[in-house]
Amino acid sequence: MERSIQTISPEEAERQRFFTEEIRSLPQKPSSYFVVTYGCQMNAHDSEKIAGMLEGMGIHEAESREEADFVIFNTCCVRENAERKALGNITWLKEVRKRNPNLMIAVCGCMIQEPGMAEVILRQYRFINLAFGTSNLHKFPELLYRALNANSNTVAVEDRDVIPEDLPIVRARKEFAYVTVMYGCNNFCSYCIVPYVRGRERSRDPERILREAGELCENGVREIMLLGQNVNSYGKDLQDGTSFPSLLRQLDALGIPRIRFMTSHPKDLSDELIETMAGAKHILPQFHLPVQSGSNSILHAMNRHYTREQYLDRVDTLRRAIPGIGLSTDIIVGFPGETEQDFRDTLDLVDRVRYDSAFTFVYSPRVGTAAASMAGQIPPDVSSRRIQELIRLQESLQQDTMKRFVGTEEEVLVEGLSRRSRSEVSGKGKHGISVTLPGSEEDIGHILRCRITGLKNNTLTAER
Ligand code: SAH
Ligand code: SF4
Ligand code: F3S
Repeated sequence: MERSIQTISPEEAERQRFFTEEIRSLPQKPSSYFVVTYGCQMNAHDSEKIAGMLEGMGIHEAESREEADFVIFNTCCVRENAERKALGNITWLKEVRKRNPNLMIAVCGCMIQEPGMAEVILRQYRFINLAFGTSNLHKFPELLYRALNANSNTVAVEDRDVIPEDLPIVRARKEFAYVTVMYGCNNFCSYCIVPYVRGRERSRDPERILREAGELCENGVREIMLLGQNVNSYGKDLQDGTSFPSLLRQLDALGIPRIRFMTSHPKDLSDELIETMAGAKHILPQFHLPVQSGSNSILHAMNRHYTREQYLDRVDTLRRAIPGIGLSTDIIVGFPGETEQDFRDTLDLVDRVRYDSAFTFVYSPRVGTAAASMAGQIPPDVSSRRIQELIRLQESLQQDTMKRFVGTEEEVLVEGLSRRSRSEVSGKGKHGISVTLPGSEEDIGHILRCRITGLKNNTLTAER
């Protein structure tokens, strides 16, 4: 299907500024908001844009969702439990609504973008005022204006891939910023709903990315995380020949102290990208490389387009080029047709690679994806036993793997006070691993040099 991809036009942006101003002067506008975010970094960043638009309307963030008179749920639908969690909390708000009849509720994000979902939600949850999809995020001021003036609820979902630009952003942290490099995904891994709810791959204009990153750098941001479902495909749809490695080289030259990115698809991880990382000054020695399964027949059924041998080769190349690199992954167990031997192959791969961390998931069928109708769905008790075994293996290996950092120097970007003590702070080291070290509130937002002294559970401890 031919789809037209457009950057939001100046006229559209102007229209949204008009509604922003209109809401500002509305007597019935909510006075405070709270955004509840589910899902991945993309959603977290979309929530920062929602907050930016709301602040522009003169609506400010409440301390908690109980105190807000406008609650926005930014939902995820990647697995069934993500969806259940969101729906459960929306139902809970119905009770809050009884106590505060003026409470406004909006639901947005990936779940709304599922075919027919917005209508279902509004039929079953009549107390929701507004529902809009990821494709309508940039029209939020106009939609909110309509909802504030309507007697019934407002729904807006489009099947259109846009590149939203110039939206106001209220960033959750001062020293760290997400920067989207591309939207959507073309891979259609057979288990995954993301391509259906986030549309086709589209790359942002490199000039705009560089401008945004340059401004962040001038404003003292210490670390940026580049976002895309598959950043290695960046630029394939651009006319000017910019690729992800060339974008990275230009970003590296801006002088932002730390640059990370996610996510990379193993099939597209080029030698050029690895060489670029090895030769860069500010790109951190960390890589998130989802493997999903260690079995070739399952990888094939997942439509991943690589074998375990090719994956292991990428890991070797990364480790040779960037010694000590921090490696993390995503793994699914219980994919349809997964035999005991397939699962053993996954355990074997995990044993060979020795990740610093692994996000493990039980396969969850998603309506409309190819895998949902495959034969050989795995019973929950089998999946549950498998994931527990996998987690146990990963935990025991991780303890060992992380020992390589003890005695080494690290640089930690401090995120906040440690949960255990007010004389300790925690943050992420260059390798993407959490580190706890002595410090105080004043250290938040700064990069501290330290020496790793030990490990406690899945974090490293350090002294200055
Ligand atoms: N674009 C990224 C992130 C996708 S979602 C990537 O390709 O890695 C994050 C993770 O959720 C995936 O890597 C996968 O491990 C998991 N996931 C996606 N769909 C799932 C499903 N239906 N059931 C269980 N896990 C799933
Ligand atoms: Fe989903 Fe695969 Fe795209 Fe990642 S690459 S978002 S797992 S379809
Ligand atoms: Fe992210 Fe969930 Fe959407 S993982 S892209 S928020 S379905």
